[in-house]
Amino acid sequence: MRPPKIHLEDDHAGVSRRAGEIVSTAIRGASRLVLGLPTGSTPIGTYAELVRRHRDEGLSFQQVTTFNLDEYQGIPRSDPESYRTFMCRHLFDHVDVADGAWHLPDPEALDAGAETRRYEAAIDDAGGMDLAILGIGANGHIAFNEPGDALTGPTHVAALSDDTWSRNFPGLAAMREAHPEVRARYSTAYTVGIATILRARRILLLASGQAKAGALAGAVRGSVTPRNPASFLQLHPDVTMVLDRAAGGWSRTDA
Ligand code: GLP
Repeated sequence: MRPPKIHLEDDHAGVSRRAGEIVSTAIRGASRLVLGLPTGSTPIGTYAELVRRHRDEGLSFQQVTTFNLDEYQGIPRSDPESYRTFMCRHLFDHVDVADGAWHLPDPEALDAGAETRRYEAAIDDAGGMDLAILGIGANGHIAFNEPGDALTGPTHVAALSDDTWSRNFPGLAAMREAHPEVRARYSTAYTVGIATILRARRILLLASGQAKAGALAGAVRGSVTPRNPASFLQLHPDVTMVLDRAAGGWSRTDA
């Protein structure tokens, strides 16, 4: 086991530039590449950087296959909050990734158990993820693996914690109590499991902002515990973290 390699950047823009460079180097260096992709506010700048490199520097996604790490369950694919909508808006509509080469769990699947098994098998059939790009929640969640007494290994359906829900839908948070149907609409999600993530050959975790600092410091320096799902990354031999100073300043102090 090796400690993660940590790049410390000044700010979120620096995180995006560095992550864009790492991902484009991986794409250019492989004849085919399977990426795991996150959503959230953190990777938006990285996707913009990859789109810029496609437009200005000829970075091609034709040999790239992607698997998103999570997707809400039980909403239309075209829902404005679906991760499919998010990915088309920020990446897929702007690069030359082949039709059929990008994948997300199907939020409209009628049999959720079958969908989790189909998705896990699809990742394996593609040869597994070469590079899984992760964000992290303020509570240490990765993909939608929330802190708890136990974690689930393979792809599964997870319930969103109130904390994660409120952070993911800041505009709707005030309605949570009065309109439980809004909370219920995005209450569960498909997510790859901790074991799925740990099978990726390389992991690149991106984080920005003070809110992530505690979970990150615990994940790198604390015990491996399901109370901080990101701590399981200690079990992986090839983790790179790209953090801004607010999220990762602790890494420059003695443990
Ligand atoms: C969501 C996603 C996670 C993501 C996290 C952090 O819960 N399911 O995959 O890492 O948000 O989001 P943000 O980057 O907006 O802080």
